Order: sequence, then structure tokens, then C-alpha cells
Amino acid sequence: MHKNLQKHITNKLFTIISDVAEKHQVQAFIIGGFVRDALLNRPCKDIDVVVLGNGIEIAKSLAKQLGIEGQVTIFKNFGTAMLKYEDMEIEFVGARKESYRKDSRKPIVENGTLADDQNRRDFTINALAINLQREFFGDLLDPFKGIEDLNKKVLRTPLDPTITYSDDPLRMMRAIRFASQLGFEIEKKSLQAISENKNRISIVSMERITDELNKIILSPLPSVGFKLLFETGLLEIIFPQMQKLYGVEIINGKGHKDNFFHTLKVLDNISVNTSNLWLRWAAILHDIAKPPTKRFEEIQGWTFHGHEDKGAKMVPGIFNQFKLPLNEKMKYVQKLVLLHLRPIALVKETITDSAIRRLLFEAGEDIDDLLILCEADITSKNPIKVQKYLDNFKLVRQKLAEVEEKDKIRNWQPPITGEEIMKIFDLKPGREVGIIKNNIREAILEGSIHNNYQEAFDYMIEEGKKMGLKPILSC
Ligand code: CTP
Repeated sequence: MHKNLQKHITNKLFTIISDVAEKHQVQAFIIGGFVRDALLNRPCKDIDVVVLGNGIEIAKSLAKQLGIEGQVTIFKNFGTAMLKYEDMEIEFVGARKESYRKDSRKPIVENGTLADDQNRRDFTINALAINLQREFFGDLLDPFKGIEDLNKKVLRTPLDPTITYSDDPLRMMRAIRFASQLGFEIEKKSLQAISENKNRISIVSMERITDELNKIILSPLPSVGFKLLFETGLLEIIFPQMQKLYGVEIINGKGHKDNFFHTLKVLDNISVNTSNLWLRWAAILHDIAKPPTKRFEEIQGWTFHGHEDKGAKMVPGIFNQFKLPLNEKMKYVQKLVLLHLRPIALVKETITDSAIRRLLFEAGEDIDDLLILCEADITSKNPIKVQKYLDNFKLVRQKLAEVEEKDKIRNWQPPITGEEIMKIFDLKPGREVGIIKNNIREAILEGSIHNNYQEAFDYMIEEGKKMGLKPILSC
């Protein structure tokens, strides 16, 4: 059926591209993600244009027409050129035919027809093209029934899936990412081809794998992607620590929960409340050290003592493995993993203000995110239990809010600085300064003195004296 998509390409840019191509007597087509997303009503600012000719030449000519000459980025090795216009990024490439060697994702490229170019694409829904030739402006070219697949929500490869995935194994991650991101199903034989080709993922750089993994994590229901990674065997290769969460061991009739599916539930839960990638990573990693800390004890049954501590220690290694940034984002994830059991422990009736102050101090400005993580961590098959825990958790939030209101501990710095301690006791930087500073902080957190300058100052003098120090200034 003839379909015209002019209503999706009303921006004047597309008419200008059409005119430029006409002038050079070449045919141009929009292809790939832009067409897919237009049909799904998803905003897309990346536009890929294929020309039956020299893509770089057309890009340069377009830039001239738009008055942005000299702003074309040319990737000579790939034969592509990119320019930015308004908030769009437009990439031009000549239609190509590709063939692959076994050991590399880098294809051998020859000039080809539009059909060759569509053949080399990963999925039928990504092989859709819109004609920009003047007399066919807006016409859809859909050689593989991509529209049908879009409607059926199916991911299918244009060629035999084994060829498509083996040619470029990153596409296995892309298939799972699109399934998770768009809520599509991967065609059965395609899924099977992923399982069979899983080991070929080893020729893909970690950065590209992580890009796709992060998109899975940011999808509306990330468990969809992780379950597919698990079922195809890719998870075991790219993320063995997470794979180890899977399974239930039973001793003396006692089992523990399956920490893989629990983690996925926590991840889905948290995704309803946040699109912060790093908070979602914290959900993935919160129980990551349960397998290495698992013990069976006669009376207690299964325990995972210290898993929060060990888990926090595992974070840098995992970030390194995925080439994720080893910066404050990593420290944030570490902090949340380390503290993830703390808020729920505050449910107890007997809890003191000092325990609450300590948590506020340690979590600092990340306290709200920690609470979101803890709430997401409440999972049970029994909805009555979940509701009871969530109600208890409301009390924790309330207690935290009360203490915060009273003591303003969040983002708090003890009122006496190390410099002041050194000045008052005429000390050089060293152990004694650290001890006094620490004792002041502890006294405030414990509630033995109030959080104000005068009480802290007096306490400092007392502490100094106990250590045999003489203040050189008194007030
Ligand atoms: N493509 C492919 N195989 C890949 C990567 C990309 O066949 N490994 C093709 C697809 O036709 C894809 C197009 O190149 O639609 C553009 O790729 P890219 O911009 O990476 O992805 P999009 O499909 O546009 O999706 P997104 O923007 O969500 O990443």
C-alpha cells in the first residue's frame, strides 16, 4: 500500500535537503530511527539521510544553502558528514553495501543501492525510509513490512537474524534495548539467534555495550530488558555479578528469596519514581553482595550479613568494568548501597533522635534518594505485608522530617572548623585536631550538646583540656 508521510516532515529543512539533492541530481532519503520514531510519535532530533551518491558533498552544499558553511563535521573514514541545524543533528551518508569479517564490527563498505542500504540495517522498523525526491516527497519505502512490525510491536531483522547479529553483535544489545524501551517483542527466531551468537558480544567495545545497557536501565520497565539479557545468556557474559543473584538455595526446608527477581522488582519500583540513571543503578547494585555474603545459620536461617558494606566496596570494580565514570556519580551509588538498610531500621519504636541525626548526617543531600531506594526495596508477594511496611515507612519519613526541622542536620557542617581548633590550641595539623573535631561532631549527633557555635566552642575547650592542651584565646 502506498503511504505518504509528508505530515511528519513539515520542517522546511526537509524541503531544502530535497532541493539541494535535486540540484546535484541525486536521490535522498531519510532512513532509520527518525522514521521509526515519527511513526511512533516519539520526538527524535537525530536525522539520518542516505543519498545515492556522495553524502559529504550534499552535506556541504546544504550547509552553504543554510548559511552555516564550515560547520560540517566530516568523518572521512566512514564517508559521512554531520551538521547541526536548529536543535537537529543531520547525518549524511552515501547508500552502501556492507560485508563483514568474522573478527570485527567494522564492515567492508562499497557503494550500493537504497535496497542494499536497507538490507544492511538491524531491524525492519529501522529500515523504513522516506523519499525526499521532489516528485515522491514523503513517500514511504518499506521493503520488509516494517510498518506491519511497528503495528504488531515486533522486532524482526531484514535478513536471516544469524547474519544480522553475527555481522554486528551490538545489535543483540540493541534488540533487547528496543524491546525494553518500546515494549516490543523480539521475534522468536531472532531471540534464538541472540542466544546462539551471545559469545560474539566479545568483539563489541564495553562503551557501546554500556550505552545500550543504560538505555535499558532508563526504559519504562527495565526488568523487561534484564530478563531478556538473562534468558539469552548475555547477562552472564556482560554482568556476571548480577547473574549470581539468580537462584534459590534450600537447606533444612528453608529457602531465601531469589535476589535476581527481587532486584528487578526494586528496579521497576524505583523507575516509577525516578528517571535518575544513577539512582536506578543503585537499585541494581543494592544487593549485589548478597551472593558472596550468604550464610546458612542453624537458628537464623539464611543471612547476608554485611552485604551493604561489601556491596559498596564492589561498586568501583563494577563501574570500571562497564567504563562508567569513576567520579561523584560512583560515590553517590556507593553511598546509597552502603546506607540502603538504614532507614528501614528506624521503624522501631525505640529509635532515638541520635540514630536519625546520624543517618541524616551520613546521607546528607542524598537522603531523599535513599528514601526512594528504601521504599522501592519493599517487595513481597503479599500485598498486605507491602502495605504494612509502606505505612511503617511513612513513620520513618515523618521522624526524619521532624528531626531535620529541629536540628537541620542535612548538609550540616559541625560549627567548629579544624582551622579554628588549631588556632585556639596553637596546634599544627595532626591527629589531635582530628580527635577534637570528631568528638564535637559526635557530641552533637549524640545530642549531648546542641548544634550551635557556643556550645560547640565550650565543648572544644573542655575536650582540649582533657587532652592536656591549653587554649591561647578565651572568650
Ligand atoms: N543501525 C544498524 N545497526 C547498528 C546501529 C544502527 O543497522 N548497530 C542502523 C539502524 O537503521 C538505525 C540507524 O542505523 O535506525 C541509526 O542508528 P542510531 O542512530 O544508532 O540508532 P537509532 O535507531 O536512531 O535509535 P536511537 O536514536 O534510539 O539510538
